[in-house]
Amino acid sequence: MAQGVDPLELRDLAVAVATLGADRMAARAGARDLRVVTKTTATDPVTEVDREVEDLIVSALVAARPGDGAVGEEGADRPSASGVRWLVDPIDGTVDFLYGIPGCNVSVAAEVEGTVVAGAVVDPLHGDAFAAAQGLGATRNGTPIACTTVADPALALIGTGFGYDPARRRRQAQVLVEVLPQVRDIRRVGAAAIDLCWVGCGRLDGYYERGLQVWDWAAGALVATEAGSVVGSVDGLNLPGGLPDACIVAAGPALFESLRTLVADAGAGRA
Ligand code: IPD
Ligand code: CA
Repeated sequence: MAQGVDPLELRDLAVAVATLGADRMAARAGARDLRVVTKTTATDPVTEVDREVEDLIVSALVAARPGDGAVGEEGADRPSASGVRWLVDPIDGTVDFLYGIPGCNVSVAAEVEGTVVAGAVVDPLHGDAFAAAQGLGATRNGTPIACTTVADPALALIGTGFGYDPARRRRQAQVLVEVLPQVRDIRRVGAAAIDLCWVGCGRLDGYYERGLQVWDWAAGALVATEAGSVVGSVDGLNLPGGLPDACIVAAGPALFESLRTLVADAGAGRA
């Protein structure tokens, strides 16, 4: 790890800046006068608040640690002189945010030399702040969390999500036709970071989704891992860092392999 980097210090800063952003987001969640434009497709929205929150967070990070780099979903791209790079999703679950649905969150992770070592996911409408530091466990509102011990996919509550591209959605719906009859039920919360944190705290037994960007999963995957879950890709490889087309799978250790096989057989790796 880069010299002088303390994962706990990075975690506490992640919580502080994510909370700052989440307060701004919560104040506007569900507002009817939000200015919205679309990004990749007509159903992929970005609002003025996504950009404001990203600016707020990046400015706070630069003020606290001027040598660090930062990459954000809405365009922040600051090189790192310190070896630390922040990954920022100013609003994960932008559609939930537009409608005022709890689950929209601010997700902030710190990466050191390519490894995520600290992260925070703040979901203000549920009143949840998840945080983790590498090797030091994961918490919800300061209390340690742990994933479930469910082993049988038939008894597992599984989260998933859908991309914005209609062709991808069709494939993801076809995967769901195969998965749904084989599990307890499916939840579509609308925010990948929350799906991962909920695997960590036992509100879900498992999760899979293809097509995420690194800022969607970086903090949530650390929370899930530090809470005892296994997080990997559907093809059995490590986390899909830099591979946005990989399908991420997360579950407790007793469930992970059977869930991975189940969703792979259903075609999730190609969806
Ligand atoms: C989206 C959410 C959603 C997932 C999509 C993501 P955004 O992030 O995490 O749950 O299904 O794949 O793009 O666009 O709201 O930041
Ligand atoms: Ca986003």
